[in-house]
Amino acid sequence: MSLSDIVASAPTSMTAIELLAVISAALLLELAVGIGWTVWRRHSAGVGEHPVAPAAKPVVADAAWPGWREFRVARRAFEDAAQSQCSFYLQPVDGQPLPPFKPGQFLTFALDVAPRSADRATGTRAIARCYSLSDRPEPAHYRVTIKRVPAPADHPEFEAGLSSNHFHDHVQVGDVLRVKAPAGHFFIDPDPNVPAVLVGGGIGITPMMSMLRWCIALQPQRRVHLYYGLRNSGEHAFKQQLEEIAASHPALRLNIVYSRPGESDLLGRDYQHPGHVDVELLRRTLPHGRHQFYVCGPAAMMQALVPALAEWGVPVADIHYEAFGPACVKLPGAPDVMASAMAEVEVRFQRSGRTLSWDGRDTSLLDFAERHGIAVESGCRCGSCGSCETRLLEGKVQYESAPDHDVAPGHCLLCVGRPSSPLVLEA
Ligand SMILES: Cc1cc2nc3c(=O)[nH]c(=O)nc-3n(C[C@H](O)[C@H](O)[C@H](O)COP(=O)(O)OP(=O)(O)OC[C@H]3O[C@@H](n4cnc5c(N)ncnc54)[C@H](O)[C@@H]3O)c2cc1C
Ligand code: FES
Repeated sequence: MSLSDIVASAPTSMTAIELLAVISAALLLELAVGIGWTVWRRHSAGVGEHPVAPAAKPVVADAAWPGWREFRVARRAFEDAAQSQCSFYLQPVDGQPLPPFKPGQFLTFALDVAPRSADRATGTRAIARCYSLSDRPEPAHYRVTIKRVPAPADHPEFEAGLSSNHFHDHVQVGDVLRVKAPAGHFFIDPDPNVPAVLVGGGIGITPMMSMLRWCIALQPQRRVHLYYGLRNSGEHAFKQQLEEIAASHPALRLNIVYSRPGESDLLGRDYQHPGHVDVELLRRTLPHGRHQFYVCGPAAMMQALVPALAEWGVPVADIHYEAFGPACVKLPGAPDVMASAMAEVEVRFQRSGRTLSWDGRDTSLLDFAERHGIAVESGCRCGSCGSCETRLLEGKVQYESAPDHDVAPGHCLLCVGRPSSPLVLEA
């Protein structure tokens, strides 16, 4: 009830003093409600933690199961001609039905892999890695699709990716894997009235497949525009599946974009556009009107496309993105939360017995620790897997945006954290 409602509902027999008392009480009530509302909004928005509108409220706290759960690999299937992207179908060992997830979310795996040659003496090495769910929620299985990661082209002497090669070379049907519950803030808005633009670059197609398959199953009338950027048909994952979906679902507009078409690749048959997925292409091919954009791909694509969408005029609240590793994406106008992180401060690593001076040169406490030779675990390096979670004995750590991983009380994530006061870390 508003102040005017209260005054309007005051009995006509009231004296002037009684009326004044009612008005004062109503004013005080409005003030109290106003302050309460502001405080609640600031708290729920996590002031200083979300420079960019998150896709939705944090969901990790609602994890479907605590800790690790065992899954058996029920099936493996390559998804591309080059056989560099393999799907793994996972069924829970406990036989209980699988909880649904939000299309776009990921699973985290704990793996014991053969170590890099430098640490061969230590036997197997425990690592954690995240993989997006690549199918719509099904009660009987989860599916992830993993791309084999070679050594970087400019450093062929490095060893190939630990987890992805372990999956491709060693994880077989019948094997049991330890998996954390689906998590992540990157998932499709369930409102069927807002057309979705799904942009996947390379293996970034996996969360888009989940969103797309969920849409066609549950919201077949919803307009979906899929842009899939890749080099050529050799690495074109889910090719037949996507073509079949597009043929039977007129609400889907499929835009396959090859940057280096092969000799036998045919424009119009294998792909619709040469080049890259950029704003120019979106401008030419999307109809007018509001769309929600979902972007996932290599760092270079994210860093170019995401700010360009905002510059084009897409409201920040309609741009959702996820990187599969460290990728600093900054939208125009987003406040620089990290500017308030300390430029010079002491950081003590208790177990290592080292006190070092943070000078603002490193992008994260993980980079800082590694540069000084301090042994710390890491996985995704983007706040998703929890591998770098470290006990925070003293001080405060600041994050540019709320990490996907649900940080335990009294701990911090080194890979996305920077000090905002002197620190003592357990590492
Ligand atoms: C939320 C999320 C979802 C994801 N979803 C998917 C998905 O659906 N599918 C998918 O395939 N991936 C996905 N990823 C990426 C995945 O988690 C892994 O990062 C990826 O598989 C690479 O891990 P790896 O262990 O194979 O490589 P790493 O062992 O981490 O190596 C990465 C690279 O570093 C190189 N390297 C080796 N030694 C050195 C050195 N000394 N110095 C520098 N570089 C070195 C390696 O050669 C390799 O190129 C996702 C990531 C996140 C965060
Ligand atoms: S390395 Fe994955 S959360 Fe930090």
